[in-house]
Amino acid sequence: MKVKNICCIGAGYVGGPTMAVIAQKNPEIKVTIVDINEERINAWNDSDLSKLPIYEPGLAEIIKDTRGKNLFFSTEIDEAIDRSEMIFISVNTPTKTYGKGKGQAADLKYIELCARNIAKVATTDKIVVEKSTLPVRTAEAVKSILDNTGNGINFHILSNPEFLAEGTAIEDLLNPDRVLIGGESEEAIDSLAMVYNSWVPEDQILRTNIWSSELSKLTANAFLAQRVSSINAISELCEHTEANVDEVARAIGMDSRIGPKFLKASVGFGGSCFQKDILSLVYIARNYNLNEVADYWEQVIIMNDHQKRRFSDNLIKTLYNTVSGKKIALLGWAFKKDTNDTRESAAIYVADHLLNEQAQISVYDPKVPKQKVYADLNYLNTRSEKENETNVAVENSPYDAIDGAHAIAIMTEWDEFRNYDWEEIYNKMKKPAFVFDGRNILDKNKINKIGFKYYSIGQ
Ligand SMILES: NC(=O)c1ccc[n+]([C@@H]2O[C@H](COP(=O)([O-])OP(=O)(O)OC[C@H]3O[C@@H](n4cnc5c(N)ncnc54)[C@H](O)[C@@H]3O)[C@@H](O)[C@H]2O)c1
Repeated sequence: MKVKNICCIGAGYVGGPTMAVIAQKNPEIKVTIVDINEERINAWNDSDLSKLPIYEPGLAEIIKDTRGKNLFFSTEIDEAIDRSEMIFISVNTPTKTYGKGKGQAADLKYIELCARNIAKVATTDKIVVEKSTLPVRTAEAVKSILDNTGNGINFHILSNPEFLAEGTAIEDLLNPDRVLIGGESEEAIDSLAMVYNSWVPEDQILRTNIWSSELSKLTANAFLAQRVSSINAISELCEHTEANVDEVARAIGMDSRIGPKFLKASVGFGGSCFQKDILSLVYIARNYNLNEVADYWEQVIIMNDHQKRRFSDNLIKTLYNTVSGKKIALLGWAFKKDTNDTRESAAIYVADHLLNEQAQISVYDPKVPKQKVYADLNYLNTRSEKENETNVAVENSPYDAIDGAHAIAIMTEWDEFRNYDWEEIYNKMKKPAFVFDGRNILDKNKINKIGFKYYSIGQ
């Protein structure tokens, strides 16, 4: 079946960019992205493209190209569902914060709400595509809800997990390593494959059973995060042995069996996915009584928490064991460069720890607005909103953020940080002026020569 109308429920970091690319590559398909969050939909519809709710290089250009032609953003969810032959579910699946599985299991309430909504309003046969990352065997629950609460029409469930990385989402969508489609109905799989075929070669479209597809996404994220934790574990050993983690990473990365990617030591991984997906994997394994499997993967998270903690511990220790009343400038708040996403960013946890030690924090990030920084800290509930406001300043310029600071902590690897006038920064800081490079992006020799006391990871 050739699809003419697509609806995507969830206008987030995945739904927005993914559907924008699908619309651009399939001008004959009408794509409608719907969301319950009206503010977000309004931002997607803003005529000023710099106000789009999500920052990704190349995204604004595609929106400009497609919006109002065959790409639409709307809060009219029911109407968009019933009009479409294919419905993507791309809502958030965060870690549960209550009840059974709290702190580990994926919270599937938004997925269930979508399934119930689709069942309620659909009057013609639908292909329902799981785009969200879901625990293995979720399709069973989705199918049961659709079949038991629907209007007697046929639903085909497909799993089509998204492998894009934030910061390079558009590039990843335009040139995916592979597109994965899991399902039972050959016909439904073909319909979705046809949408991707507009730009993805057939041999890169992988067809599997639905459970393999669901589990592959969790597994991919677990493997990626595991590499980060592996190199971070070695970074601590390097600091005790005078080995240099960047040199070690280069040496092992040239081994074709290992490969060079995801071997950059850092203050720890963040983002909405890695931690949540590993926790979900751990929870599933425990549910099947596979305790060794669960323990194995849980260690990736334990290592990541340790890396964030030891970064701030080292900063405090180096500043003569106290940061009380000292101004510490955090450069970067996003969890990685080229995105405005701050979910699970290491910066949040480092700032929280330093605030517990009574530091005065200043923050500069090129893409993260002030309210987001406060919202992230307030969400932790460690102290009152008022205290966060008093002790954290969010600046519009990096030079204001570092003015009078005792130390700088580089939290995000934004390219622009490398090109600052570091001499001027040095002159504006208290002495000795410390830099803690959580991303190993600065030129150590140059920075030391200016007079900074420079600390990087694993060196
Ligand atoms: N962010 C990533 O890099 C990434 C990559 C691959 C996969 N994923 C997965 O994709 C899914 C979505 O992630 P995201 O980062 O886009 O999340 P997000 O929070 O940015 O977006 C989800 C959107 O869904 C909306 N929503 C929730 N329930 C709804 C409902 N019942 N009806 C309509 N809208 C509803 C929310 O308002 C929100 O705007 C998650 O499962 C995630 O694990 C994310």
